[in-house]
Amino acid sequence: MAKRVLNVGLVGGGGGAFIVNPHQKAIHFDGTRRVVCGALHEDPVKAMEYAANWAYPIKGYKSYDDMIADQRSKPVGQRIDYALIVTPNFVHFDPAMKLIKAGIPVFCEKPLTITAAQAVQLAKAVDQAKVPFGIAHTYIGHWTSRFARWIITSGKLGAVRWADSYYLQGWLATRLETTGQQQASWRTDPKRAGASCCGGDIGTHAFMQLRFVTGLEVVSVRGMIETYLKGRQLDDHFTTYCELSNGCKALVRASQICIGHKNDLGIEVACEKGSLAWRQEDAELVTLRMPSGVERQYWRAAVPAKDDFLGDVPADLLGETTIPSGHVEAFHDAFARLHRFFEQDVRAYNDCKPFKCDGTRYASVHDGVKHMKFIEAAVKSAKANSRPVKM
Ligand SMILES: NC(=O)c1ccc[n+]([C@@H]2O[C@H](COP(=O)([O-])OP(=O)(O)OC[C@H]3O[C@@H](n4cnc5c(N)ncnc54)[C@H](O)[C@@H]3O)[C@@H](O)[C@H]2O)c1
Repeated sequence: MAKRVLNVGLVGGGGGAFIVNPHQKAIHFDGTRRVVCGALHEDPVKAMEYAANWAYPIKGYKSYDDMIADQRSKPVGQRIDYALIVTPNFVHFDPAMKLIKAGIPVFCEKPLTITAAQAVQLAKAVDQAKVPFGIAHTYIGHWTSRFARWIITSGKLGAVRWADSYYLQGWLATRLETTGQQQASWRTDPKRAGASCCGGDIGTHAFMQLRFVTGLEVVSVRGMIETYLKGRQLDDHFTTYCELSNGCKALVRASQICIGHKNDLGIEVACEKGSLAWRQEDAELVTLRMPSGVERQYWRAAVPAKDDFLGDVPADLLGETTIPSGHVEAFHDAFARLHRFFEQDVRAYNDCKPFKCDGTRYASVHDGVKHMKFIEAAVKSAKANSRPVKM
């Protein structure tokens, strides 16, 4: 029997909003989820206008409070199955808390909140309510990120010695925020972005990528938080040197002033028997560099079930790719994979069955607590001459 299509409600996304677009495509990717309603803007009149002019019919709400009040009273099957929060950072905590208290699962953008204290409070509420909660750490949704994680955590290259996880951009190499550009305006405002612009916006992705691929935790942080553009209120260049749970070290770094770099997120992991490299701008490929000088290149959907170096590759992992190799899976597919995994947990929740938001398929609320603590530790360290700060 065909599955009931899950209904999704949006918080944010009207006007010239950015990240709602890849998300809503990803929601519709498999035909098993669809957007049905939304509170799309902070201005109630505009919220209704944007809903009326949405690309396909959806029900508009004047505010997320109205949406939650209306949806919470409906039985499962008639109400939204989950909400997607795609508002600026300072409008994550309040709707997320209210949705969780209403028993509605939440898929939320990163960074989770604007302070670690808020993130801890939210995580407590999620644990108490036992409601699925996911965070949109996009890049762990690439199949090749999942493959890289399997290679490193199963010890194919031996123990991790060092890693460099980076996210370089150039779009804030001028004072774009002074032009009124929507996305730059709130990201450079501490009241709306939190304690860090560059670290919160993209350093959190580099941090999550490091933890996801290596399976290791960051235990202490030395931070150098810099602002290159005069007059800018928050950082545009964010560098940390971290101690990991196995005693090894890692760079987690991000920049928004590196002209020419677009969304240059990548990771290099140096292990005892070889190194692994992956870049999201070339996300079909995982490269292993061996001591002999040989480079092994593994292409998504072309990895053999039995490989002469890796041995047996798990069938369930191989089965997760969606199209043959050479037809490129990319950013939208990564988002879709996260929503696909989240859907499994939402269906289990609806059926009163166990589910696990354990961070192995999409980031959990506890990953969000960790990225918020990481940002605060980095800022604290930077203010204290980069002395190590424990997480
Ligand atoms: N995962 C990723 O790869 C990724 C990429 C970009 C942005 N993001 C995150 O997504 C979030 C949104 O970023 P963006 O660039 O799309 O921002 P944006 O400014 O383009 O869009 C924000 C949207 O939220 C709406 N909004 C603001 N306050 C609201 C309220 N009270 N009620 C309803 N709607 C409200 C705005 O009207 C707008 O539609 C941020 O937290 C950002 O860090 C994540």
